[in-house]
Parts: sequence; C-alpha cells; structure tokens
Amino acid sequence: MTTFAFIGAGKMGEAILRSLLEKGFMQPSQAILSDVDLERLHELSDRYKVRVTSDNLAATREADVIVLAVKPQNHATVLPEIADAIDDGKTLISIAMGKSTESIEAHLKKPAQVIRVMPNTPAMVSASISAISYNERVRPESRELAREMFSTLGEVVEVDEKMQDEVGAISGCGPAYFYLMVEALSDAGVRIGLDRALATRIATETMIGSGMMLRQTGLHPAQLRDMVTSPGGTTIAALEVLEEYSFRAAVMKAVQAALKRSREV
Ligand SMILES: NC(=O)c1ccc[n+]([C@@H]2O[C@H](COP(=O)([O-])OP(=O)(O)OC[C@H]3O[C@@H](n4cnc5c(N)ncnc54)[C@H](OP(=O)(O)O)[C@@H]3O)[C@@H](O)[C@H]2O)c1
Repeated sequence: MTTFAFIGAGKMGEAILRSLLEKGFMQPSQAILSDVDLERLHELSDRYKVRVTSDNLAATREADVIVLAVKPQNHATVLPEIADAIDDGKTLISIAMGKSTESIEAHLKKPAQVIRVMPNTPAMVSASISAISYNERVRPESRELAREMFSTLGEVVEVDEKMQDEVGAISGCGPAYFYLMVEALSDAGVRIGLDRALATRIATETMIGSGMMLRQTGLHPAQLRDMVTSPGGTTIAALEVLEEYSFRAAVMKAVQAALKRSREV
C-alpha cells in the first residue's frame, strides 16, 4: 500500500489531499501530513481523519511518495531536513513555482525520482490544470502515478521542464487575471446602472459559460469571438475600445512580468 506524505499542509496541500481522498485514489490511512502550524494540523486531522506530525523527516521516512507543498522560499530549510530519508525508491513531487527538479536535487544526498508539478488554485474545486515534468530518474510507474494523482484535481499536461516557468506564468497566476476581469466587468455593470450582485453574477457566469464553450467546441477563441461580433454591432464597438487601450498587449506584458518574477524567487 502506497503511503503519501504531504510536507506543507496549506491551501494547495489540502486541495491535493482532499481530491485524492474524495476520488478514492487513497484512503486516509495512507496519508500523513507534516506542517509547522500545529493548529492547522489539528484542523486537517479532524476534517480528513489523516495522521499528522510536525516532524518532516519522520513523515518522509514513512512515505513512498512525498508531496512537497511548502512555499519555494522554504525549500532551502525543508529539503536538507528530509534529505536523509530520500532515495531512489521514493518519489518526491514538488509543486513549488519556479523551483526546478535540478535545484531540488541539489539539496538531496542521494539520487532520487523528482517530479515537478504546477497545479493551480482551481484545484480546490477539482478544476485545475496541472503541468507535469520529470527528472531523468523517474520510472514509468512513478510517471503514471503522478499523472493519476493530479488527474483527480482536473486536467493534466506533460511539459518539457524548461517550459514550466512559462506555463506557471499563465496557469498559476491566471486565476488572478480572470478574477480581475470579472471584477472589471462587474464594475462596468455598476457604472452603467446594474445592481452589484447582479453585475457580478452575470460577469461570472458569462466567463464560465464562455470557458465551457471553448473547451467543449474545441474552436479557436477568435472563431468563438467572431460568433458574437456582428458587423457594425455592439460587440465590435466594445472590442475597438479594448484594442485602443491595448488589452492584448497589457496581458502579454503581465505574463512576461510574472515569468520574470518567478525567476527571481
Ligand atoms: N497557490 C497557488 O496558486 C499555487 C499554485 C501552484 C503551486 N503552488 C505552490 O504550492 C506551494 C504551496 O502554496 P500554498 O498556496 O499552499 O501555500 P501555503 O498555504 O502558505 O501553504 C504552505 C504550508 O507550508 C507550511 N510550512 C512553512 N514552513 C514549513 C516547514 N519548514 N515545514 C513544514 N511546513 C511548513 C506553512 O505553514 P505557515 O503558514 O505557518 O508558514 C503552510 O501551512 C508553493 O510552493 C506554491 O508555489 C501554489
């Protein structure tokens, strides 16, 4: 029976744990959580009936698969702490933004299977897109296990590790771009006289519905945009203003700024 240790039981650690349990990928007895925040550990052990500890090394020793879900800036503390318990028989999965498998291996004492996954916060509602890459030691069965694990959170794509930061600048930060767009649309609704709650609901459902159209039709976004853009109509008048204010260029610059920042931390 595979045992899973979660080092770092924050928002993402919990989202992954919950999905794995809800989808029946593992039983509570197969999980052990480790974190510095004891109150948080108690809360999660009550909620999910899993074992908890504040000893990262002990959790790692027990586990076959270690999900490292601490912030990137904590890697330099946590990895040396658990290094004694990591060898080629274990699978170490890191979800930290901006941390390469190579930088993780540099903290370890023995060669190990290291997997890097970039999920995003919609994992909390099982609607994540997770980008996965592997170091050269990862065996086919460990790849399969990682793909299955993260499929419980939503979609999974395998990417060349060299492109992980680029993917993260879109998928990791993307929810914030989307929420800002919903907020802006809601403000726009209020500006033209709609009630706030109604404006937000309409903006949210419009975005979600449009996303579903994209996924279900498989059409290019420009084709779908054309479908609502009649000659001389209202939508083209609005799009002209977005072009005038360089909406597309602003998004491109925003993603480049996120990428630059991910390489600094
Ligand atoms: N949020 C996202 O959208 C997103 C998406 C993809 C990937 N990620 C990655 O997921 C990771 C976790 O992010 P998050 O949003 O879940 O962060 P979070 O909520 O802050 O969770 C991190 C947890 O790790 C704990 N921790 C800190 N130092 C520790 C140590 N030495 N040993 C054990 N636990 C320790 C923290 O405790 P304290 O709070 O007490 O410090 C916290 O409970 C990050 O590497 C991030 O880059 C995040």
